Amino acid sequence: MSDEQELRVSKIRDGTVIDHVPGGQALKVLSILGIDGSGGETVSVAMNVPSDELGRKDIVKVEGRELSQAEVDVVSLIAPAATINIVREYDVVEKNRVVRPDRVTGVLTCPNANCITAGSEPVESAFDVLEDGVRCAYCDTILREGIAEHI
Ligand code: CTP
Ligand code: ZN
Repeated sequence: MSDEQELRVSKIRDGTVIDHVPGGQALKVLSILGIDGSGGETVSVAMNVPSDELGRKDIVKVEGRELSQAEVDVVSLIAPAATINIVREYDVVEKNRVVRPDRVTGVLTCPNANCITAGSEPVESAFDVLEDGVRCAYCDTILREGIAEHI
């Protein structure tokens, strides 16, 4: 990477860098993390920057926050090649590639109003991960597009 590209988004002191997100998907990652700007978080986003591996990639940097495993699991659905970098005092102290889980629980909401997970009794949602989407483990409703809208 040239120096000019390195400077596109400055380094962060403490927080999480989600790197190698497919070009154009950064806003979905923010949606998965529940970030819309109203919470006051410091967030930097670079979209469609050149990448050797992906052609174009997005980068999301969230300051002062580390992600839960449930959040990382959902990020993996839209960004299967993403790396999650934990930064402390400007150093990358941990770097993990996301792993597509077999199942995501408790994060996505089933859009089927008749699903047992949509009732008043608390039943945690569970979706099985497919090649091209996710399927509710209770009612078999399949989500392909717009997974981030069901968080
Ligand atoms: N980063 C950051 N702030 C820091 C340290 C790193 O924003 N204080 C960002 C870098 O800009 C990069 C990502 O975190 O986007 C990973 O950093 P690093 O591991 O140093 O970069 P690479 O070796 O290029 O990562 P990879 O091998 O995963 O491509
Ligand atoms: Zn369901």
